[in-house]
Amino acid sequence: MAFLVNGNEILQHARDNQYAVGAYNTNNLEWTRALIRGAKETRTPLLIQVSTGAAKYMGGYKVVRDLVLNEMDAMEADIPVILNLDHGDFAAAKECIDLGYSSVMYDGHDLPLEENLKNTKEIVRLAHERGISVEAEIGKIGENQGVGELASVDEVVMFAEAGVDKLACGIGNIHGVYPEGWEGLNFERLKEIADAVDNPLVLHGGSGIPQDQIQKAISLGIAKININTEFQLAFQKATREYILADKDIDKANKGYDPRKLLRAGTDAITESMKEMIGWMGTRPIDNKDSKVVFDEASLNEE
Ligand code: G3H
Ligand code: ZN
Repeated sequence: MAFLVNGNEILQHARDNQYAVGAYNTNNLEWTRALIRGAKETRTPLLIQVSTGAAKYMGGYKVVRDLVLNEMDAMEADIPVILNLDHGDFAAAKECIDLGYSSVMYDGHDLPLEENLKNTKEIVRLAHERGISVEAEIGKIGENQGVGELASVDEVVMFAEAGVDKLACGIGNIHGVYPEGWEGLNFERLKEIADAVDNPLVLHGGSGIPQDQIQKAISLGIAKININTEFQLAFQKATREYILADKDIDKANKGYDPRKLLRAGTDAITESMKEMIGWMGTRPIDNKDSKVVFDEASLNEE
């Protein structure tokens, strides 16, 4: 029977040894299977997460939990799996704690600091009672191609002292596609934060950041990198190619069957995941001294 781990040990090992573990959003059944497959094939830990919107789309947090656990069993997932609520409000965090998610992100960054801290402490209490890990957002991750707010070092320390396990700090990162002329990550602030706390640091908006910046951020303490848009674009590109090649209207081969129509896109998620695992130097579970190096040639395999 499948079980989840909270990932604290894995992410602390990553921070202490300067590599990162990807945190991949699931959007549906195909995504879930593509992510489990990528983790199995690279023998790396899998951090699978769901946003409130994606959970709603799939029928709720319980459906997502059951889907992940059932696919882990069906696919014989013999790697550690962490299931994280991504950017949840107070009610969502409580619900996911009750459902047995192994990690929750309580995101109260829009609230006044005092209220956010009070809620965060309550989530930490409820989660830690059950061995569940907690993540918080400090400062603001940018949205809609605009930068957010840099996390203040004092606030990061406050959230670490409140018992938060992993800290997602605004450092010039943005969700979604980065705009032309984006200034890049603020490494100065990241270094100040990393000097102040030992917790694993989280980089949201991990899609579309150049490889050198990803690797510099990891060298400065980033241990978890959230990636969603990158895989959506990989899925979209491969699906578009399938359709533009008229494979969907190939009646003789039943190219319209969703199992075929979604296949190229689903495979592209796994390939894109493997590439990111190579960038992040994620360590395989069987040999934590070696890094997974992505084989670029496999990207072009049929
Ligand atoms: O919380 C989720 C992420 O921060 C994903 O961001 O879609 O820009 O990769 P992204
Ligand atoms: Zn995020």
